[in-house]
Amino acid sequence: MTEPFLALPSTQYKSSFIDAVHEFIKEDRWRGWKPSLLRSEFESYVENVLLMETDPPAGFVPQTTYWMIADDQYVGRTSIRHHLNASLETFGGHIGYEVRPSMRRMGYGTLMCRLVIVEARKLGIDRILITCDDDNIGSQKIIEANGGILQDKVDNGRPALTRRYWIEAPE
Ligand SMILES: CC(C)(COP(=O)(O)OP(=O)(O)OC[C@H]1O[C@@H](n2cnc3c(N)ncnc32)[C@H](O)[C@@H]1OP(=O)(O)O)[C@@H](O)C(=O)NCCC(=O)NCCS
Repeated sequence: MTEPFLALPSTQYKSSFIDAVHEFIKEDRWRGWKPSLLRSEFESYVENVLLMETDPPAGFVPQTTYWMIADDQYVGRTSIRHHLNASLETFGGHIGYEVRPSMRRMGYGTLMCRLVIVEARKLGIDRILITCDDDNIGSQKIIEANGGILQDKVDNGRPALTRRYWIEAPE
């Protein structure tokens, strides 16, 4: 077994990525391309994800996405927003992540967050904002395990308040 790692999105992981999409669809969490389109156009899908870093659509800040890979399988996704805009300041923050349902509660979320913080530092982001729902216990544990300090809880008109955590710059 090899150590799980963060990889840039790649067609190499097509099969397990699409399996994961089916899992996300079952929990109504997938808003991306349909599996049939992913199957026929996976290369374009990967290109689109990569382009978010250099050529994001209007209104989006540049975003780098990594996939966590374990034993050559897609485990989940994490993204770094290179800077905040007004909307990300209250919801979204610098870093987002999700672990495919079949691989949750195995420590991957915590590890993915630890590894992506290293990548965010390389991009020059000193203070890192991460937000999560007030009822998302798993995400709160992940953020706190990675040094997140709760700033406040804001009302974004969602069912749960949004917790805003900062991970300060290293000494
Ligand atoms: C939140 C999420 C990323 C957690 O991923 P994960 O791989 O299960 O996380 P880990 O295995 O590292 O778990 C971290 C801790 O949270 C706990 N945990 C995870 N899911 C939990 C849940 N649903 N309820 C209670 N505790 C939970 C784990 O037991 C672990 O606790 P410990 O550190 O005391 O052992 C995953 O559930 C997910 O992708 N959810 C949907 C998307 C999402 O919410 N993303 C975050 C947006 S802010």
